[in-house]
Amino acid sequence: MTQQKQKQINLRIPGPTPVPPDILEAVGRPMVNHRGRDFAAIVGRITAHLKAFFLTRQEVMVLTCSGTGGLEAAVVNVLSPGDKVLAVSIGSFGERFATIAEIYGAEVTMLSYDWGQAASADDVRKALQAEPGIKAVLVTHNETSTGVTNALAGIAETVREADKLILVDAVSSLGAIPFEMDAWGLDVVVTGSQKGWMVPPGLAFVAMSDRGWKAFDSARMPRFYFDLAKHRDSQTKGQTPFTPAMSVFFGLDVALARMVEEGLESIHTRHRRIGHLFTGRQR
Ligand SMILES: Cc1ncc(COP(=O)(O)O)c(C=O)c1O
Repeated sequence: MTQQKQKQINLRIPGPTPVPPDILEAVGRPMVNHRGRDFAAIVGRITAHLKAFFLTRQEVMVLTCSGTGGLEAAVVNVLSPGDKVLAVSIGSFGERFATIAEIYGAEVTMLSYDWGQAASADDVRKALQAEPGIKAVLVTHNETSTGVTNALAGIAETVREADKLILVDAVSSLGAIPFEMDAWGLDVVVTGSQKGWMVPPGLAFVAMSDRGWKAFDSARMPRFYFDLAKHRDSQTKGQTPFTPAMSVFFGLDVALARMVEEGLESIHTRHRRIGHLFTGRQR
């Protein structure tokens, strides 16, 4: 076995996660017409399965980009330049989410914690009371740079009470730890293919609540590739607006079928057990 092969097998990082052999095989399939019937069937299966993991009745859009592209899509589809946002940051990815909003012209108030700490719903409530004009809250579910998971359900409840939008970076949490988009009242949710989904990098999955779609109608940040209405409308026809990373779609189709068979609870138990083995901590 070459050293390179050994390294791949021993990959023990939060992402890209190792890809099982049958999924890798699917990734290597020949290309098909991405506007044809066979690919439409794959898009249909993938999006139906993703809804069951997001626990949402909303359409889950599959974008060809990394997780950061998904975060950019979240920001530009519901906000306008000059909108006030509260960015809750407990590490590197929380800062990145805030930076994206800032670059597109949002007025960002930071609620930052020392790395290694989790955010508290009470602090979020106080920050929203101190700045009444805030339109949306940006929050990372699992902050991969520190390994800390925010208690998202409680934070979301606070944001709902204040009647603001909540945009969630679930790049390294969704598909691995408990997550309930609709029940927790989340407005925009983003995850990435190379984390809990056992497929290579290249896709981001994004879903929006009814409140999110309402905000979309008046959001004025520039968007073209990441215009989520384009993606939603194409997907309902079994397509994507632009040429998709088809190989990753092929792999994802197999991965999601495996995950559905394993079941949500078993998946969560498996990740908790492995997390415990590596950190010695119980989540
Ligand atoms: C929590 C979180 N957000 C965002 C990202 C960025 O995703 P990508 O590297 O796919 O752009 C990552 C990647 O590690 C992440 O873990």
